[in-house]
Amino acid sequence: MTHAIDVRDLHKHFGNNEVLKGIDFTVEPGQVVCVIGPSGSGKSTLLRCVNLLETPTRGRVFVEGVEITDPDVDIDAVRRRIGMVFQQFNLFPHMSALQNVMIAQQRVLKRGRKEAEVVARENLEKVGVGAKCDARPAQLSGGQQQRVAIARALAMNPDLMLFDEPTSALDPELVGDVLTVMRKLAEEGMTMLVVTHEMGFARDVADRVVFMDGGVIVEDGPPSQVIGDPQHERTRAFLRRVLHPEG
Ligand SMILES: Nc1ncnc2c1ncn2[C@@H]1O[C@H](COP(=O)(O)OP(=O)(O)OP(=O)(O)O)[C@@H](O)[C@H]1O
Ligand SMILES: [Mg+2]
Repeated sequence: MTHAIDVRDLHKHFGNNEVLKGIDFTVEPGQVVCVIGPSGSGKSTLLRCVNLLETPTRGRVFVEGVEITDPDVDIDAVRRRIGMVFQQFNLFPHMSALQNVMIAQQRVLKRGRKEAEVVARENLEKVGVGAKCDARPAQLSGGQQQRVAIARALAMNPDLMLFDEPTSALDPELVGDVLTVMRKLAEEGMTMLVVTHEMGFARDVADRVVFMDGGVIVEDGPPSQVIGDPQHERTRAFLRRVLHPEG
């Protein structure tokens, strides 16, 4: 079976700062993989290398069997199959929720206005903000804005979704609504690579948890192992900090 994501010996330097020092991992179709690790460990850089928002210095990345690190790849075609959700929602402030979800469908997929609108309404409904179609981002809570951003990604019919700390910018009481939507997506079989500090989500939803530190993968396994019974002191120290921040 073709891996959804296959990363081989991935290195990334910024100047002489080596941020990724040889990363190897795979995500299978339908799997949810959560990436955890301290600030600066390279989690966002890894995610950004998977859709070539960053160019790897060395190594190879395959998405659904297509080598995206091949200089001749049609990267736009590959990116169309990957939905990306960021910590900051990046919605257009002057457009309604509906328009935000329609625009890329029309521009990138060349869908007609009617079809784009139908798909946009379906997806806004699906993430629980169907009543907010006409609202602009400033009229929505952070949790609602993030769900609009998820609807926007889903409207492109991606095969896989990358999430980079999708709930980190949210007030605590709004985190649950976004995680509920992500849980539902996972249950529907969406392939997901999720950078998160939400250990409850990782424990319940992830098929695998990857712990990164200092640009390497320290542990990779089922949540019961990586979170429940970590083998490395670095993992244990990190988990103590996130699970008991007061010390
Ligand atoms: N565009 C860039 N130019 C130079 N250095 C960068 C760039 N992007 C990231 N870095 C550096 O790479 C390292 C890893 O950053 P990255 O954002 O991947 O970490 P992270 O694990 O996502 O951290 P956080 O949990 O804080 O989001 C950091 O030292 C950062 O300063
Ligand atoms: Mg990051």
